[in-house]
Amino acid sequence: MNRDAQFVVVANRLPVDRVVADDGSVDWRTSPGGLVTALEPVMRKQGGAWIGWHGAPDEELDPFDHDGYRIVPIPLSQQEFEEYYEGFSNATLWPLYHDTVAFPEFHREWWDAYVEVNRRFAERTAEVAAEGATVWIQDYQLQLVPQLLREMRPDLKIGFFLHIPFPPIEIFLQLPWREQIIQGLLGADLVGFQVPGAASNFRRLVRKRTRLKLDRDRVLLPDHACNVKAYPISIDTEGFIDMAHDPDVVAESDALLEELGHPKVVLLGVDRLDYTKGLRQRVRAIGELFEEGRLDPADVVFMQVATPSRERVDEYRRLRDDIDQLVGRINSEVGGIGRPPIVYRHASFPRTTMAAMYRIADVMVVTPLADGMNLVAKEYVACHPKTSGALVLSEFAGAAQELRQAYLVNPYDLNGLKESIMRAVTDPRMVRQRRMRALKKQVLANTIDSWADSFLNDLRALTS
Ligand code: ADP
Ligand code: G6P
Repeated sequence: MNRDAQFVVVANRLPVDRVVADDGSVDWRTSPGGLVTALEPVMRKQGGAWIGWHGAPDEELDPFDHDGYRIVPIPLSQQEFEEYYEGFSNATLWPLYHDTVAFPEFHREWWDAYVEVNRRFAERTAEVAAEGATVWIQDYQLQLVPQLLREMRPDLKIGFFLHIPFPPIEIFLQLPWREQIIQGLLGADLVGFQVPGAASNFRRLVRKRTRLKLDRDRVLLPDHACNVKAYPISIDTEGFIDMAHDPDVVAESDALLEELGHPKVVLLGVDRLDYTKGLRQRVRAIGELFEEGRLDPADVVFMQVATPSRERVDEYRRLRDDIDQLVGRINSEVGGIGRPPIVYRHASFPRTTMAAMYRIADVMVVTPLADGMNLVAKEYVACHPKTSGALVLSEFAGAAQELRQAYLVNPYDLNGLKESIMRAVTDPRMVRQRRMRALKKQVLANTIDSWADSFLNDLRALTS
């Protein structure tokens, strides 16, 4: 392929996943997760190339055009899928960077696969990017790409953005390959984090573990400077608002309410089925409120939708079983003959259906134990049509630093969580309206466009 893309996004995931059905038919589906939700509108606006994996192992695909930009698929073998993706990315780095809420596993062969795949991404990027192009590398799966790419193509402007938390130095230093990761990231001209605390964790790490000089936000390397700053990510706010007002979505939300039997109060949870999302705590807290009669199952329903995610990784399997059991137990103990108090859907839905759900949710419950940002919280604020909704939000989501008017909770404190959910349900309308108005203002003022502009303008303005 020619070196002709002026703007290149490099991410483990492509925006679409190739799915092969049992009958051999092929379909493309929107990929799961916040990274794709956030970057897709950016790419549609900027154009260029998106380099990433198409979600199926052992398949080589040619580049193709999609929504006004070029998709460049990177192949992964079955073994790389297991060692680089399920292993090092999602059973080592993911738990390590999320506060070790699950135990990170360290295996040398997983690391070798991570290096190998990062090199493949860097090589492909070097083939695709035009002279002097802007390259934006995304997330924890590709932390070695900035340095590798700089070695191959020093002419490029290289940005890196981490979508998940960056841990305190005491946790990061457990990683046997810590020096390589630090050097990998420092290959970028600009490294962005979700919140200022994460950026300062990284700067502190550089100060402690390298001999490099820092000049405020800039790390000074022999051949370039690496700038380190926070850029809180957001959503396509207008796009979500328009979608939530679309007559088909309004009709879908009416039908959903009908299906639920028109409860007085709908509580909603929306997540990838991930152990960082605080699902166990959330289901237990709401279950206890039903059991204690503080929430009446005749009037209140808790709808939880969970996208299947990383299903072959042990911790995810355990979580899936736990939630199935917990929901089953609560529904059989509290439920009567009608609709169960917890309506649980373990499936992925189209964005329009998500918007319909957000519309009818009186209280949105978002309780991660650790989360880079959490876009679900922002999507709810954008989509809920009235100012009467309420957002219960974990202090440990990056979003809590912006959405200060949410009902902020510590999800480890079950009693505190229960009290906050009850306040969100019962607070006077005026109080909830005031909070919701402030939240809407925040999400309207800080959009995915302003996020991308501020990162890319900073990156392009840098002189090495
Ligand atoms: P993460 O990136 O860790 O998955 P975020 O909250 O930032 O968490 O982003 C999750 C994204 O996935 C959101 O855009 C949300 O709408 C979407 N999503 C979550 N659950 C579902 C589901 N069951 N079906 C479809 N999309 C979902
Ligand atoms: C989070 C991560 C993304 C990842 C997404 C879905 O948003 O930050 O990098 O793509 O989860 O996870 P998956 O493993 O399915 O790509």
